[in-house]
Amino acid sequence: MFKRVLGMFSNDLAIDLGTANTLVLVKGQGICINEPSVVAIQYDKHGQQRILAVGQEAKNMVGKTPGNIKAIRPMKDGVIADFEVTEMMIRYFIEKAHKRKGFFSPRIIICVPYGLTQVERRAVKDSAENAGARYVYLIEEPMAAAIGAGLPVKDPNGNLVVDIGGGTTEIGVTSLGGLVQSKSIRVAGDSIDQAIVDYLKKNFNLLIGDRIAEELKIEIGTAIPLEEELKTTVRGRDQIEGSLTSIEITSEHIREAIQNSLKEIVDALQSVLEQTPPELAGDIVENGIVLTGGGALIRGLDKYISDIVKLPVYIAEDPLLAVAKGTGIALDELDILQQTAYED
Ligand SMILES: Nc1ncnc2c1ncn2[C@@H]1O[C@H](COP(=O)(O)OP(=O)(O)OP(=O)(O)O)[C@@H](O)[C@H]1O
Ligand SMILES: [Mg+2]
Repeated sequence: MFKRVLGMFSNDLAIDLGTANTLVLVKGQGICINEPSVVAIQYDKHGQQRILAVGQEAKNMVGKTPGNIKAIRPMKDGVIADFEVTEMMIRYFIEKAHKRKGFFSPRIIICVPYGLTQVERRAVKDSAENAGARYVYLIEEPMAAAIGAGLPVKDPNGNLVVDIGGGTTEIGVTSLGGLVQSKSIRVAGDSIDQAIVDYLKKNFNLLIGDRIAEELKIEIGTAIPLEEELKTTVRGRDQIEGSLTSIEITSEHIREAIQNSLKEIVDALQSVLEQTPPELAGDIVENGIVLTGGGALIRGLDKYISDIVKLPVYIAEDPLLAVAKGTGIALDELDILQQTAYED
């Protein structure tokens, strides 16, 4: 009873717990937190850990920390790599949303990477419950992405969404409020960044970190040839000389570096299309494919995919926000929730 009364005053939360970015949306108010999923931990003399920073502040420390501080991405490749730190991060973000708005035990829906194990799902739920949630629901990412992209997921009509995040690319075919087909591969933003690191090392003997690789991808990365190719200067360490050096890199280099990753994404998409029942495949031919997630922002990726699969490809509005928006809509619409969220 007490909980129910409290519930009347609470503002429910939707959380997109991404491997690269975590977004928190407050019911009726929109997105209030949008920060990298990074935690900086400091270790004292006795090996005790405490949180130094979370989110953007922590990401700025990646690769620059002294020995007793570690900047950790607790979720990697679509799995929880560090349970303890993931819990700290979830609590931190919930409390941050709480403090600012003064909530009492909210209901929380969390969008988790598709294919988490039972143990991982339990850990996410426990963290949110420990942070004061009254109920915790989980939703699968391809469904949240489809809802957030504005697709009519409840209709008896096949819709296909490809969410290219940091850790995973998730492909889902929705119909009648459920996922009819889905596939998740660990090729997405992070592995594309890694491909750029490897390429520069192999072809230019240049050593760079993940963050520089990500910046190169965003600044000059492209999936297709550009009318005017882009270029930039990269600083790094010469692998042979050991000295600091800088070289000029073009969008053609980055395209070459990332082509295998993009091909793997399209291969996964094609395998989902092949497995989709004919009626729904017919719908997809008509409706086309929608891209969400930060990876959708790679220049020309829509055209690249469309040329190979011979279907129309659209980029969702604000692809980086689609999953959070979809999770927020699921929170508003219990009928969607009942079909797609699962309680463990
Ligand atoms: N303009 C851009 N061009 C290319 N890639 C981008 C751009 N902006 C962001 N990204 C990439 O998008 C990725 C993050 O996307 P997103 O926030 O959707 O991932 P996530 O939801 O945290 O991860 P996941 O869904 O795998 O758990 C990062 O790899 C980032 O480098
Ligand atoms: Mg995501």
